[in-house]
Amino acid sequence: MKKDVRKAVIAGNWKMNKTPSEAKALIEEMKPLVKDATCDVVLCVPFVDIYAAVEAAKGSNIKIGAENVHFKESGAYTGEVSADMLKEAGVEYVVIGHSERRTYFAETDQTVNLRTLAALKAGLKPIICVGETLEQRELGYTETLLKFQTKMALTNVPAEAMKDIIIAYEPVWAIGTGVTATDDQADEGNGFVRAAIEEKYGKDVAEATTVQYGGSMNAGNAEGLLSKVNVDGGLIGGASLKAPDFATIVAAASK
Ligand code: 13P
Repeated sequence: MKKDVRKAVIAGNWKMNKTPSEAKALIEEMKPLVKDATCDVVLCVPFVDIYAAVEAAKGSNIKIGAENVHFKESGAYTGEVSADMLKEAGVEYVVIGHSERRTYFAETDQTVNLRTLAALKAGLKPIICVGETLEQRELGYTETLLKFQTKMALTNVPAEAMKDIIIAYEPVWAIGTGVTATDDQADEGNGFVRAAIEEKYGKDVAEATTVQYGGSMNAGNAEGLLSKVNVDGGLIGGASLKAPDFATIVAAASK
């Protein structure tokens, strides 16, 4: 982390876990454990948990995010949720282009970009996920792919908006597998993302952009990962469902 030039952000991604009452209980448990954080603390929760989560987090340093957003402002898109709806519900951040959405729900680089533009327009902060599969890594495409995904996601995003954007490097092979990238692999992947931002916006913007690592980050490995210069925080799945584990990661990012 380079905390003097960019913000450290630890975000939980609950995925399809926790009912509203369970969300409230987990946030109540987390609040006292993360209250002294010097990084930003975000919990991205299922749509139906948002109301309970925003209420539970009120008056604390925990900010609430969503896990997806549709790219149209309104209309006949049964089952979808717009950026304005999220904003009015008290949401500040939104995960966009998670690999699970790319894999299971046909998310493409183009829709990731459209969702990013819609989120920015509504005043939400996108957490854009990029990452290579194991096959792509073994074929030697990691740098090419990360740069391509990053630049595609940022199509038509003006430099001024980059202060509201987080990119999360999440190698697909490390998500939910217990296989974490090594500290150096995470640093390298995040570095490729930052290089893509520099190619598009220049060095100042690239140096100021928060780039998270995600993929089996946990209480035991967070400190090592976060010690790397290009790792400005984490996007945490499984470990964000356990208050003490999540709090340990927040504390590691607060050092
Ligand atoms: P895990 O931490 O469970 O591997 O999930 C990472 C992730 O996908 C966060 O978005």
